[in-house]
Amino acid sequence: MPFSEEDVKTQIEHLFFKDCVVEKNRLDFAVSDKKGHALYWAESKKGNYDKWLMLAQLFLTIKPRIDKAELPPIFIGCFDAQDITFVEFHHAQDVFQTNDFNWNERPSAVSPKTAAKIKRILDGKEITFRWLEDKDAVKEFVKRNLFHTFNDLLSYSGISGFIQITKNNFVQVFDRWSRDVLPSIAIPPEMLKHGIMPRDFYLADLLSEKNKTISDKLKILLNYDAYECQLEKGLFNKICFKDKGSAHKKFWNAYERPPKKEYRKYMLERQDLLVPSGIRERKGAYFTPQIWVEKSQEYLARVFGENWQDEYYIWDCCAGTGNMENGLTNIENVWASTLDDSDVRVMKENQRLLKNHVFQFDFLNDSFD
Ligand SMILES: C[S@@+](CC[C@H](N)C(=O)[O-])C[C@H]1O[C@@H](n2cnc3c(N)ncnc32)[C@H](O)[C@@H]1O
Repeated sequence: MPFSEEDVKTQIEHLFFKDCVVEKNRLDFAVSDKKGHALYWAESKKGNYDKWLMLAQLFLTIKPRIDKAELPPIFIGCFDAQDITFVEFHHAQDVFQTNDFNWNERPSAVSPKTAAKIKRILDGKEITFRWLEDKDAVKEFVKRNLFHTFNDLLSYSGISGFIQITKNNFVQVFDRWSRDVLPSIAIPPEMLKHGIMPRDFYLADLLSEKNKTISDKLKILLNYDAYECQLEKGLFNKICFKDKGSAHKKFWNAYERPPKKEYRKYMLERQDLLVPSGIRERKGAYFTPQIWVEKSQEYLARVFGENWQDEYYIWDCCAGTGNMENGLTNIENVWASTLDDSDVRVMKENQRLLKNHVFQFDFLNDSFD
């Protein structure tokens, strides 16, 4: 192959990221705009290399940064002397949440097994170009998806100093919020026993305008200088700040709220990403990806025949936010219940389900009397 790894990086930088800041120390290749907003983090190699191995290596390298709540770029990816790959960062959340991933592997000695796991999660979500042959396509892609997306976000707030919260970074902003704001909220301990979680306060903050929650689908609402609990009105009506809201104010001064409308639905649907892993495992709070949804319907048809949707009633009794019901055609025959009230609220807004077929139910402990 004609290029050394340094040559490859230099070419990629000159061809596609001329007006950006490219750092090659902590990561192979980290692109940001001139104000320091991260746009693209990539693993690089010379020659022709397996992209899933490169991506696996990148994941192992960036994990400590993500754990420290560093704000991620819009895209991650990899390139060698032939191909360049881009993956929108929010897809990476599913890799970070995988519980059978060996995060102790050394990036430089990543195993094919780990690469295969990355492939299983991200295959089809990545975009790969032959960069030498398709320079114009890459330039267009970068312009549209990295620079335009970014400028769009800036013009949304009109103030470029604010950090925009998108589906790519809302988990990392939650991690920062948990570190900086959560300790200043006087949450009664018994409230946590009632299933209220820190994420409910974060969502109340995030989906608010001028410190008042604008979403009616949340358990906790922010009402200027205190929170209110919608679920148990009267029981814990007001939750105050221990420091008169000073940490809260300082934190949110850096971010634009509420996020763009197009991201809000995603954030409500992916609340599962905002659950600490211990609780997540206990509750089985895992979002079901579309490929498994399709598989489940394929198996049901195999067992119950091709008219199963008309001939049977379907009750998903641990429905979460209702992804298993994607693609079902006879909604009259579908019921969905789940443990968490916040998931019930999300499902009630789902056009693919009938509102009165959605309810809160603990299938291990509740019964129909
Ligand atoms: C694997 S997730 C289902 C995910 C769902 N298919 C989706 O994609 O949103 C399991 C769900 O069961 C819920 N769950 C856990 N224990 C439950 C219980 N005892 N009764 C009802 N739902 C429960 C969890 O809150 C979680 O949302």
